[in-house]
Amino acid sequence: MLTRRLFLEMAGAAATLRASFAAVPDEGLRAIAARRGILYGCAAATYELKDSTFAAALAQEAAILSAEYEMKRAAIEPVRGSYDFSGGDGLLAFARAHGMSFRGHTLVWHHSNPPWLEDALQSADAEAFLTNYIAAVAGHYEGRVTSWDVVNEVLQPQDGRADGLRNSFWLKRFGPEYIDLAFHTARSAAPHAMLVYNDWGCELGAPDNDRFRAATLKFLDDALARGVPIHALGMQGHLSAFGTQVDQKKLSAFLEAVRRMGLKILVTEHDVDDSGGPLDVAVRDRAVADASRRFLDVMLDNPATIAVLTWGLSDRFIDPPGWRDRLAGRYPRMLPLDSDCARKPMWRAMAKAFA
Ligand code: G3I
Repeated sequence: MLTRRLFLEMAGAAATLRASFAAVPDEGLRAIAARRGILYGCAAATYELKDSTFAAALAQEAAILSAEYEMKRAAIEPVRGSYDFSGGDGLLAFARAHGMSFRGHTLVWHHSNPPWLEDALQSADAEAFLTNYIAAVAGHYEGRVTSWDVVNEVLQPQDGRADGLRNSFWLKRFGPEYIDLAFHTARSAAPHAMLVYNDWGCELGAPDNDRFRAATLKFLDDALARGVPIHALGMQGHLSAFGTQVDQKKLSAFLEAVRRMGLKILVTEHDVDDSGGPLDVAVRDRAVADASRRFLDVMLDNPATIAVLTWGLSDRFIDPPGWRDRLAGRYPRMLPLDSDCARKPMWRAMAKAFA
């Protein structure tokens, strides 16, 4: 016979259990993801923080930030030898004020460099232009940047090299060794930061992506065998709602191979391009949400995945499309919040994936 006390105790326990499962109505993705031990956040730009509606949404949704452009070399060293950290420092201050981590993007890339750099690399002491920059920037943010995209997008199997490397001006000047040098220099300057190799191309299911995944595994395996201090793979996560889709089986097998190397995995720039779809916003939003959910379900199924960042948070700041699309009223809807910073089906799909 159930005593009254026991009945009340069981009722109380059931209510507590229900409350713990019931999502708090307005909690952000940062809280939902944190319950699964995942850091959710996004790239942000200085001009976006000036928008108070957006800044409030950012504080509620993100637990980690990366700089959209402020920590690229074009922004930090526009004039040779003089560093301007103001952009990155401003974003870092916002992150710290809102209890967010901060990740560095990116130390070495073939885009977004100051116009004087490629000429400077023709000089005899060219290596100094690589190592001094990394030491200065990683040193400036030491202890405040939790992970660095040390090199970004160095693979391009279509360039025809056996090692699958992109034939960039960095490779042409220094050979493949520039990658090892970059990681070792970053390690010395920022001994507490997680060092990440960041790229795009492993996400989808096409033959080109098979080739990219194979090249990535070979690149990582060989680098680790040489003792290069790579701690994690950054997968940018740029998807398409109406183009080539993720092959969940292929992606899952790839992630397991990366995990077995002892590497962590971060989704660093997730968004879902909705071009090529119908005008109907509801159809596009649903396709974007489904693509995001199919991708994140696989990414989050692997215990090596520690963070998911979207490349922006709101559609408000996405570059406007060409005039034809503008005339048709077709604006990109690639991110979790719409241009009014309201939550979209993609936000709900991500919340379900995290939960
Ligand atoms: O430099 C100006 C700055 O002085 C000005 O105050 C600011 C505000 O308008 O604009 C800055 O200009 C542009 C900046 O985007 C604005 O966000 C830069 O000229 C322009 O080069 C920069 O483009 C960025 C691009 O990387 C190159 O850095 C894009 O926003 C950014 O979305 C794109 O992101 C890349 C990732 O880093 C790597 N993966 C692919 C991804 C998408 O292309």
